[in-house]
Amino acid sequence: MNKLMTDVHEILLTREEIEDKVQELGKTLAAEYYDKRPLLVCVLKGALIFMADLSRAMNIPLEVDFMAVSSYGVSTKSSGVVRILKDLETSIEGRHVLIVEDIIDTGLTLNYLIENLKFRKPASLKICTLLDKPSRRRVQLQPDYCGFVIPDEFVIGYGLDFSEIYRNLPFIGVLKPEAYQ
Ligand code: IMP
Repeated sequence: MNKLMTDVHEILLTREEIEDKVQELGKTLAAEYYDKRPLLVCVLKGALIFMADLSRAMNIPLEVDFMAVSSYGVSTKSSGVVRILKDLETSIEGRHVLIVEDIIDTGLTLNYLIENLKFRKPASLKICTLLDKPSRRRVQLQPDYCGFVIPDEFVIGYGLDFSEIYRNLPFIGVLKPEAYQ
């Protein structure tokens, strides 16, 4: 077995389950935004693979842009300190903006991002997250579109990392505790 696989405790969501859900979300979003030319804002780096698949599952005119914010660094705990590392290239004033996130955990990162983007006067601002861990929420925040609600476990794969590794796993798995302790 390769090194990536030996660090996986269990597979939480298979490649097929993710694919089906992304197609379903794409259809829903395409219907919602078909005449709105939405701007999909990918929150780097974790949402990169979800964004690539989701945007291709939306068969309508749309634009993409990217933001990078600091989150956990090399630990598995949220610090609550959010910094913009890379900002949008486009103005979002009057635009229909859809934030594409990999996971909402405490909600601190997204809460900050939403407040920041609201200031820029978008016509609408919604959140689409692949994963949601509501049990760990520290601020009131509800995604408009969500792929899967998951238990309080640290997950990796399909864009999600631990210490920058595992993003290229095609499924979402739970990391063995010994891999991060
Ligand atoms: P929050 O501010 O606690 O909601 O954290 C959001 C960010 O933390 C996500 O965009 C991820 O980058 C990262 N994160 C939270 N939970 C996990 C996890 O289980 N695995 C990998 N990254 C995570």
